[in-house]
Amino acid sequence: MNVAVLGYGTIGAGVVKVIQTNSEVLKKNTGKNVQVTRVLDLRDFPGDPVQDILTHDYNDILNDDNIDIIVETMGGTKPAFEFVKNALLKGKSVCSSNKELVAAHGAELIAIAKEKSVNFFFEASVGGGIPIIRPLIDCITADEITQINGILNGTTNFILTKMANEGAEFAEVLKVAQDLGYAEKDPTADVEGFDACRKIAILTSLAYGQQVNYEDIYTEGITKITPEDFAYAKKIGSAVKIFGTSRKVDGKVYAMVAPQIVDNANPLYSVNDVFNAICVTGNMLGDAMFYGAGAGMLPTASAVVADVVMAVRHINDNININWDPQPLEIAPFGEMSNRFFVRVQEKSKNDVESVFGEVQWIDAGISGECGFITKEIKEADFADMYEKLEGTITRIRVS
Ligand code: HSE
Repeated sequence: MNVAVLGYGTIGAGVVKVIQTNSEVLKKNTGKNVQVTRVLDLRDFPGDPVQDILTHDYNDILNDDNIDIIVETMGGTKPAFEFVKNALLKGKSVCSSNKELVAAHGAELIAIAKEKSVNFFFEASVGGGIPIIRPLIDCITADEITQINGILNGTTNFILTKMANEGAEFAEVLKVAQDLGYAEKDPTADVEGFDACRKIAILTSLAYGQQVNYEDIYTEGITKITPEDFAYAKKIGSAVKIFGTSRKVDGKVYAMVAPQIVDNANPLYSVNDVFNAICVTGNMLGDAMFYGAGAGMLPTASAVVADVVMAVRHINDNININWDPQPLEIAPFGEMSNRFFVRVQEKSKNDVESVFGEVQWIDAGISGECGFITKEIKEADFADMYEKLEGTITRIRVS
């Protein structure tokens, strides 16, 4: 079984390494010799063994009838979408780690793969090395999924964990994360929640079998979280995390990415550092949590190569993935119900209950202000109340 890898960056290089290191495991698991015979990249890699199989021209791979499976680890949608589409149309299976591609074009690529009796797999696109895509497709199939809550981004989880442990400011910890290579030079996609947004869009599409447009998902990042927020959270035995969430209530699907105050009874409370975890709730199953390395070269490559194993086992045999191109309407965000933690200046304390009704007060010992948690309120109503109350400092949703 000959594999071509598109993009020799961190994950692409990881895929080559996993296939070489675990060649015996792959042989045992597929009954075939699995080898990388071509690598596509714009760059050259003098001294690296892949230089001998490197090409700068995608047609060398597309038109090579000896290549059965294509691994796409380029990232982005241009030119990844055209490359993957053309590979599937040529009758080659594709295994991709690319969440931008899957979130934007998953349904279309799955449909082409079906038509051509090949496969489009994307286990590594959410949760890095954590098995979550296949469990949603193949395992949690007897349930109505009522909620997905996920810590879907390692960079932000690392930053929030460090802020919690050290009482440090966001900007300071972001710099450390960049120096350690966890956060990118331009950290926007991670810290503003855009990366997690694509991932929860993919999981929600699979949970309900229809295309979720990630642009319909309310998305809020972690840049405004402060050490004072953690002081309040700790006071009530909670952590501050950022979740990708989708929830089905009375037949409507709600979704958002936002920071959350998470109490220590929640299994996601203790997911720290760069780890990811996804808690799926089914109406029969209850909760099932999937935990592990959500990013990184070898964990992510391990998931991509597991897709390669599946593609080898099912060569010319399409595995049905229930993800229809028909859009799934995400219910208006204003109608989603949440509880909110609010910080307000001391001078406005007496006005709080006339605006929000009965609340749960939290005293974190910070002078000049106080904090409280509301009952469940619709987002639109909360926004009106928050505006009405003078002296508000910040608000975070409560999981
Ligand atoms: N930037 C992502 C993260 C990489 O930090 O989780 C994995 O998708």
